[in-house]
Amino acid sequence: MTAPDTIRIFDTTLRDGEQSPGCSMTPQQKVVMARALDALGVDIIETGFPASSESDREAQRLIAREVRRPTLAVLSRCLPADIEASARVLEGTANPRLHIFISTSPLHREHKLRMSRQQVLDMAATSVAHARRLVGDVEFSTEDGTRTEDDFLEEVIAAAIANGATTINVPDTLGYATPEESRALFQRLIATVPGARDVIFSAHCHNDLGLAVANSLAAIEGGARQVECTINGIGERAGNAALEELVMALKVRNAFYDIDTGIDTRRLVPTSQLLRRLTGMSVQRNKAIVGENAFAHESGIHQHGMLRHRGTYEIMNPSDVGWPDSKLVLGRHSGRTAVGHRLRALGYTLEDAQLEQVFIAFKDLCERQRVVEDSDLEALMHGDVSGQ
Ligand code: KIV
Ligand code: ZN
Repeated sequence: MTAPDTIRIFDTTLRDGEQSPGCSMTPQQKVVMARALDALGVDIIETGFPASSESDREAQRLIAREVRRPTLAVLSRCLPADIEASARVLEGTANPRLHIFISTSPLHREHKLRMSRQQVLDMAATSVAHARRLVGDVEFSTEDGTRTEDDFLEEVIAAAIANGATTINVPDTLGYATPEESRALFQRLIATVPGARDVIFSAHCHNDLGLAVANSLAAIEGGARQVECTINGIGERAGNAALEELVMALKVRNAFYDIDTGIDTRRLVPTSQLLRRLTGMSVQRNKAIVGENAFAHESGIHQHGMLRHRGTYEIMNPSDVGWPDSKLVLGRHSGRTAVGHRLRALGYTLEDAQLEQVFIAFKDLCERQRVVEDSDLEALMHGDVSGQ
């Protein structure tokens, strides 16, 4: 048996995540979050975009003082002044990475950069070489890579590798790709670009079509060995690939992927909740893994199944991701089995006929309120039925 393959988890909550509307953090808040990401076990933390603000420079300096295990990356445009500012802010970092990017797609070249293919190619090559003279670990990203012509994308990546990039990130900046395209793209790049086998390929997927996690998994199937993601999937527009979903997909479907992320999954929910408190940005109740309803069951059939064997309606154990337990929520769809189970947990032992009476009162209550709490059950017991 061979050892499972490893994948690098590159967390960009503090950079791409923080760029999303309503998610900005102070340097001190970023330090708190960086400590949590370190404890979670991520391999790389992207702390910010130093050329963009003093706050990001300060955050990187503060984080570097105490977070020493993971690699700390900062983002930079392919401009000499930005690269030098980023290299300066990385001084004193235990494991520094300079992450530089340039847009490669025709739309970005023409309308955003106003540059020709040759100009983009030259700027990518000279910038990687410049960054590499300053920092040993250089990641190069082709912004809007998935909407770039095949031949040009290969040419730019080959130039970046030839000039010393150690990681090549191919972002799906607009969340436009499909999983099949993502898998094929990484397979092709790794098979054809000169030097590709000497570097790590990375996927960075946005969620505009809700495909960020699916595209990241497909990229892994195509050979990517780094995935970029954020806690709760925060990020520009519809966000980035959600770290918790990616990690749990790789864990739950390990027989298929055979990939070890090294993440302490029991910290996923506490880390998600920490980010919510720091940013004030809530997550939807039905969000996979970390949403309030991710392990909650209301319908009678599901609750009945759960009480017999949790595997009937759960593919992972809530405690594996940091929830105390599953929740059997009592409401209009619940059956007498779950009501009886909850009453027994509250200390009531009822005959079938008594339970039937409570159940009728319970159903009546459900017409007036969505969720029946323990206190409501107590009230039912002490009202119509308790004296019997
Ligand atoms: O989405 C993107 O293209 C990015 C790059 C700058 C890495 O965030
Ligand atoms: Zn991005």
